[in-house]
Amino acid sequence: MDAVAEIKARVQIEDLVPQYVQLKKVGRNFKGLCPFHKERTPSFYVSVERQIAYCFGCHKGGDIFKFIEEIEGLDFRGALQFLAERAGVTLPKAPPHERERKTERDRLIELHEKSTEYFKEQLWETDDGKKVLQYLKKRGLKEEIIKSAHLGLAPAKGDALYTYLLKENFTRNEILASGLAIARDFDQGSSSSQGVIDRFRMRLMFPIQNLAGQICAYGGRAIRDGDEPKYLNSPETPIYHKSALLYGLSNARPEIREKKNAIIVEGYMDALAAVQAGYKNVVACSGTALTENQLALLKRFTNEVIFSFDRDNAGKAATARAIELGFAQEFVMKVIVWDGKAKDPDECLRENPKIFAKAVESAAPATDYLLTHFKEIYDITSIDGKKKMLADLLPFFSRVKSPMELDEWLKEAAAILESSVQSLYDELKRFQGKQKTLSNPNIKYAADDGVAAAPSFKIQEYLLGLLLTYPEACSKVNLLVQPEDFEDIELQNIYRFATTQYNQALGNQTLSLKELERKDILAVYVESKFGDMSWDTVEREVSETVLALIRRKFNHQKKSLLTKIKDAVGRERECLLESYQEILTKEEKLVGEAGSQK
Ligand code: UTP
Ligand code: MN
Repeated sequence: MDAVAEIKARVQIEDLVPQYVQLKKVGRNFKGLCPFHKERTPSFYVSVERQIAYCFGCHKGGDIFKFIEEIEGLDFRGALQFLAERAGVTLPKAPPHERERKTERDRLIELHEKSTEYFKEQLWETDDGKKVLQYLKKRGLKEEIIKSAHLGLAPAKGDALYTYLLKENFTRNEILASGLAIARDFDQGSSSSQGVIDRFRMRLMFPIQNLAGQICAYGGRAIRDGDEPKYLNSPETPIYHKSALLYGLSNARPEIREKKNAIIVEGYMDALAAVQAGYKNVVACSGTALTENQLALLKRFTNEVIFSFDRDNAGKAATARAIELGFAQEFVMKVIVWDGKAKDPDECLRENPKIFAKAVESAAPATDYLLTHFKEIYDITSIDGKKKMLADLLPFFSRVKSPMELDEWLKEAAAILESSVQSLYDELKRFQGKQKTLSNPNIKYAADDGVAAAPSFKIQEYLLGLLLTYPEACSKVNLLVQPEDFEDIELQNIYRFATTQYNQALGNQTLSLKELERKDILAVYVESKFGDMSWDTVEREVSETVLALIRRKFNHQKKSLLTKIKDAVGRERECLLESYQEILTKEEKLVGEAGSQK
């Protein structure tokens, strides 16, 4: 047995999933609230029989590997290791030729590992490094955290890292792709490094880890006075997408799950200071304003975020923006505001950790924070001030998904603005009307639970699910529905599979791995959404879906013929009209047959 099969044999999906999701038994299956998106009614199902866990709302999940990949943020290899450990299965070491065929990704991760070692050595073993350690200690960081955060020093010499990495057998192209060095074409050949220069020189290095804990980028803080910019970050690379990663998340994850919330700060130093002070559920958005992607990432682990941005105006603007994004993803949000003059969490923690602790404890709900914030900005004793405050509030209102929450909020705002809830509501409608004409009508969001439009199950897929669950129904569709009536090849093959399986004489359609998984998902969809159906119900559902499919197919054909007929003349027109008549007859016949089977 290979490792994958052995792990599958040892790890049952119904034992694995409850460690992340509370499940309830329904019929043959289990269901629960989807861990991948926010919902109020469960659409996440676990099938014991088919060993899959899948959400019909956001279409995430699959077998144990897929589930672990998604919930733990790992790639397949990572999920394999994760589950192998659990199952006590030893993975075979990749044979040497395999190792040579490493992907670009693997090589880039290795390059960052080596670089981190190098930067650490520079920090701990050199004279320059000792000075930087002094600086870090002066800023209150203890040796323990300097080590656990893998901080390092990029030396001053222009190509020190580049030369080191070449010696470690990385190629020029690999090093350039990592973003850790830059080609300077203008002085080609002027030095031993052929015009390549390190990106980070004389900087304190903060390694950035991906969700799997691998170092994939750096933030580098200037150490010498006057060096600009203060922080320099790795560029986007194949392994680093700044807007979709949060500094510190891989370490903070367990604590975020445990505490059921995450504290978000702006800077690397803020994050480290907070971790050192015992706030292990902290992450930093570092260098960008908090993005939608970063929030979506957090959503996998928690539903509540606590913003602790800088005290300056930029920090306040960032907080407001973050709250707006958070509403759209239905986060519970709070804002930390500490007493005193400290400009950021790092400073506050250094001056008096108790003040920060108190601020965390008494963090205000985001709505309260915003109302207070706007009240401070505008003079709401004047009509003009009120109007301005309302104008600032409307974008926030319009992002609130829950009617109850909106109602609460409108009440509070109405009290402050000395207005009525109804008139605020009218203003909101007006605002949203304007928004609609501005926004792109092609971007749709799924109806009720706020998942960004995931293609929902189509009639075709429902029919296949029915046929897979109740194979006897195949005899009713064989002649009415052709494989080509399904819109993609996978569905066509699954249809062939379902019908040939029922009617062995036709031989067997074999399915690819992906098709097999899709087939299981379709079957579980029908099983779990509709439970066990009576045979009558199955027959009725099958004929109705078949009818709908037939009608749709013919409507489509008729429509395209009609547009042609409109422009055609003479003989051509006659031919087209004839085809049209044929289609009508065919349709009538098929619809009649499908109907008579009811
Ligand atoms: P700050 O300027 O607030 O820095 O930037 P800080 O964390 O207080 O830095 P210290 O305390 O002086 O060391 C906050 C974050 O914004 C990003 C960095 O991630 C930084 O941690 N940043 C800042 C940049 O990416 N580039 C910059 O030039 C400045
Ligand atoms: Mn700071």
